[in-house]
Amino acid sequence: MTSKFSSRVRSLVPLLLATASLYGCGAADDGADRLIVIKFPHVVAPSTPKGQAAARFEQLVEERFPGRVDVEIYPSSQLMNDDDSLEALAFGEVQMIAVSLSKFDRLTHSFQVFDLPFLFSDLEAVQRFQRSETGQEMLGELVDSGFLGLGYWHNGMKHFGAPVPMRDPSDADGLKFRIMESDVLQAQVIAVGGNPQKMSFGEVYQALQTGAIDAQENTWSNIYSTKFHEVQPYFTITNHGYVGYLVAVNPTFWAGLPDDIRVGLEEIMDDVTDWENSRAAEINADNLERIRESGRTEIVSLTAEELDSWRTAMRPVWQQFEANIGVDIIAAAQSAN
Ligand code: SIN
Repeated sequence: MTSKFSSRVRSLVPLLLATASLYGCGAADDGADRLIVIKFPHVVAPSTPKGQAAARFEQLVEERFPGRVDVEIYPSSQLMNDDDSLEALAFGEVQMIAVSLSKFDRLTHSFQVFDLPFLFSDLEAVQRFQRSETGQEMLGELVDSGFLGLGYWHNGMKHFGAPVPMRDPSDADGLKFRIMESDVLQAQVIAVGGNPQKMSFGEVYQALQTGAIDAQENTWSNIYSTKFHEVQPYFTITNHGYVGYLVAVNPTFWAGLPDDIRVGLEEIMDDVTDWENSRAAEINADNLERIRESGRTEIVSLTAEELDSWRTAMRPVWQQFEANIGVDIIAAAQSAN
């Protein structure tokens, strides 16, 4: 099965077209001659799965629509951080974003499912859930808040970086952990006795370097490309959570595009989504090896029993958020394992 832009989400487009003309965006064909600029900011390096996919999207779009669509990618928090990009999309200052699912926490509770610790066994399980009916419905869930989801892009599974090996949950006791802007991640750190600090990605390196925080969780590609391994003595392989993205556009902007362009962009997005999702695991595995070979940090593997003690310590977080997320969504996600 491919990740074709959900027919449920596509069925929203006629409704959005009506809204677009109400908002004065013009009928779809009015804009046939104007250059359409798609500003696409993100916070990670061009070498990461998301960075590579954004560049591929730009290349394919400009090959297919020369002189009609200009995609401008701004990586590495060059233009803005993720929080600001959520607002900028709503106000039409940027036209496309791929923000971590964790950071939609304040807009929807159902996306919190992606942050439940140890829910997904691996990226394939996440992908099965994202392609399920429930996962595809969630793409259209934020339309009223100004975000139309075009697809999900993976980064990878998260691991802990800290001043000590994270062999047992008690090792987290009293440590200051940087987390993304997510209440589930906050509860997860509290569950193991840590002190969670919500912080944007662009601030993490300096916070680690100056000791403002002690620890953090992320994927190998984010860790390697941002050199966290140069300022953290230990990384423990835990695979305890997922980092992935909702690629989103402003629904009114999207509905106001000329038909041929909108359909073409959706086709390209489908291709890039398949391409990105099939490469993300490999990029992360390669980056783990590079971190190991750098000799700048120690990579710690856990036994099955040690991993179980983390699973047990974090499990109460599920009950805490079950009512918010919905038992049906959690069950659908579990059945993807
Ligand atoms: C990202 O992968 O886009 C950033 C994740 C983070 O904030 O840790």
